[in-house]
Amino acid sequence: MKGMSLESENLPFNEYVYNDRWRSRTLDVKSYWDLHRRSIESFEEFWASIARELEWFKPWDKVLDASNPPFYKWFVGGELNLSYLALDRHVKTWRKNKLALIWEGEPVDQSGYPVDRRKLTYYDMWREVNRVAYMLRNNFGVRKGDRITIYLPMIPELPIVMYAAWRIGAITSVVFSGFSADALADRINDSQSRLVITADGFWRRGKVVRLKDIVDKALEKAPGVENVVVYRRLGLNDVPMTEGRDWFWEKALAGVPHNAYVEPERLESTHPSYILYTSGTTGKPKGIIHDTGGWAVHVYATMKWVFDVRDDDIYWCTADIGWVTGHSYIVLGPMLMGATQIMYEGAPDFPQPDRWWAIIERYGVSILYTSPTAIRTFMRFGEEWPRKHDLSTLRIIHSVGEPINPEAWRWAYTNLGSQNVAFGSTWWMTETGGIVISHAPGLYLAPMKPGTNGPPLPGFEVDVVDESGKPAPPGVRGYLVIKRPWPGMLHGIWGDPERYIKTYWSRFPGMFYAGDYAIRDQDGYIWVLGRADEVIKVAGHRLGTYELESAFISHPAVAEAAVIGVPDPIKGEVPIAFIVLKQGVAGTDELRKELRQHIRNTVGPIAEPAQIFFVSKLPKTRSGKIMRRLLRAVATNSPLGDTTTLEDETSVEEAKRAYEELKREVSQ
Ligand code: WTA
Repeated sequence: MKGMSLESENLPFNEYVYNDRWRSRTLDVKSYWDLHRRSIESFEEFWASIARELEWFKPWDKVLDASNPPFYKWFVGGELNLSYLALDRHVKTWRKNKLALIWEGEPVDQSGYPVDRRKLTYYDMWREVNRVAYMLRNNFGVRKGDRITIYLPMIPELPIVMYAAWRIGAITSVVFSGFSADALADRINDSQSRLVITADGFWRRGKVVRLKDIVDKALEKAPGVENVVVYRRLGLNDVPMTEGRDWFWEKALAGVPHNAYVEPERLESTHPSYILYTSGTTGKPKGIIHDTGGWAVHVYATMKWVFDVRDDDIYWCTADIGWVTGHSYIVLGPMLMGATQIMYEGAPDFPQPDRWWAIIERYGVSILYTSPTAIRTFMRFGEEWPRKHDLSTLRIIHSVGEPINPEAWRWAYTNLGSQNVAFGSTWWMTETGGIVISHAPGLYLAPMKPGTNGPPLPGFEVDVVDESGKPAPPGVRGYLVIKRPWPGMLHGIWGDPERYIKTYWSRFPGMFYAGDYAIRDQDGYIWVLGRADEVIKVAGHRLGTYELESAFISHPAVAEAAVIGVPDPIKGEVPIAFIVLKQGVAGTDELRKELRQHIRNTVGPIAEPAQIFFVSKLPKTRSGKIMRRLLRAVATNSPLGDTTTLEDETSVEEAKRAYEELKREVSQ
């Protein structure tokens, strides 16, 4: 398999970890499975009982409409509004003046103390959301079902704009602020957004990132955009503004009363709340569509089970809202619960490697949701950094986005959690809308094991199957599938229903195919090993190798490209590229640099390849398919396996030579 090979690490299937704090919540494995079985036996009633805990304007007529699979519908006939659930509902209670958000900007003063801080109560958020909803509706004519592209950094206006959009039934399409102009333009065009909301820029590792400049470049390729709203995070005074199209935030809010109130729309449960673009196995990212009611129920349930959020908790999810983790577990989840959460703008190691630990100490963070890449990065910095701070408030840590290697788990459990936290690796994906496989300390805690995802959550029927779709025996690698619809599930790909069926529901009929390799151990715990397709996870960020290949080919010097992911001790995986240049073009170091920059510009900095190899041909099958598997074998020094379909053996030899040569150069 590709990626950071968990398999080769000899997974600790039998290493059970218990601690005192969670002893009373720890269930033995068998009792957990009894509970899980009951949730599946009556799974519609099970989900309905959770949905009843939310406030619906109108109750549903049918929990699940499965009459036209795989186009499932949840809570059909029900009406609700996410903005109402996350704000109005709390504003009517004592939580009105509770802090919803503690925001910290990146810059610090000489003593290392943050200089930009904002604290917003639920009432503050509610007022801001109403003002922005009024602006969207009255000043920009946004209507139910319209798409809005949001390209904002990690500032409170990001969730505020999202809730404002949901309040009036608009569909958000958030684009990660680390994506390039081209990636942004593609997403604007695909979603046919006419309004873009952005900022002048933001701080990242002590440097200013000029976001609006990127938007201007994108808009050269996205002519459908009529208006751009620009929030001044930095107050730059040289932001080019196009007359009649671009509006600074204050101008955009012209005429909006300070106490504006916008009645939340009564939205059908099945109404789309957001589109989020994610990478797959073609060059074009797909716009994953999520509904309103099912998503809310799934996220709400998992907030309770997995994060056990209580009113005195300080919750911090370190993800960016530009990815699905931020959508479900920063924007929606904590606010559905009426929780207080931390939001941080900048880099984890600015001004020094203890920034996160300083934040945990400063606010007394009790629940931390982070990524294996972050943990491995901190491991490298050393345990003296967390040791400088009091982290004893932490009671739950979870990771997400990629497999966590047992060593990183043990490090964090000890050095961050003082061996006294519940700590799991929550498996899910953009398509699932919420966590599916995870420890659930809010409900029970099956004994922890370093590196596992644990058993599936109640209500989810998950399996590991072989090529033919039959359950794989314990300990044997297979494909991860979900055998029943679930509330937070995707509802298609924007503009491409065929692709939805083909990608997710065709490989194993009647089951959702996740695209991951996994092992189920003797206790039924799932260990997700990594992607089984051409998707790679770079520092937890999901990228398609085909996307990178198309980006390479768009450069005038490149004839052909093959991109693969190879294991990396910190980032999990990194992309490397094998490039065939056009006739007459020389493969110089200069060109290598230029190609790197080209990828940064066309996809984004996160996609920059770790290495670029120039070769004269790529290994292909006789029918012309690139055999990435062989390149992967070359790059990871593993056996080539079956090469009978290979058209020209010298291609592999050449790739090997190029690889060896570069390795020699690097080591010299
Ligand atoms: C991977 C992120 C192992 C997996 C929420 C999945 C994980 C892909 C885990 C989805 C985990 C996510 N352990 N692998 N705890 N969580 N993955 O859409 O390969 O950005 O298919 O969603 O991340 O990535 P996405």
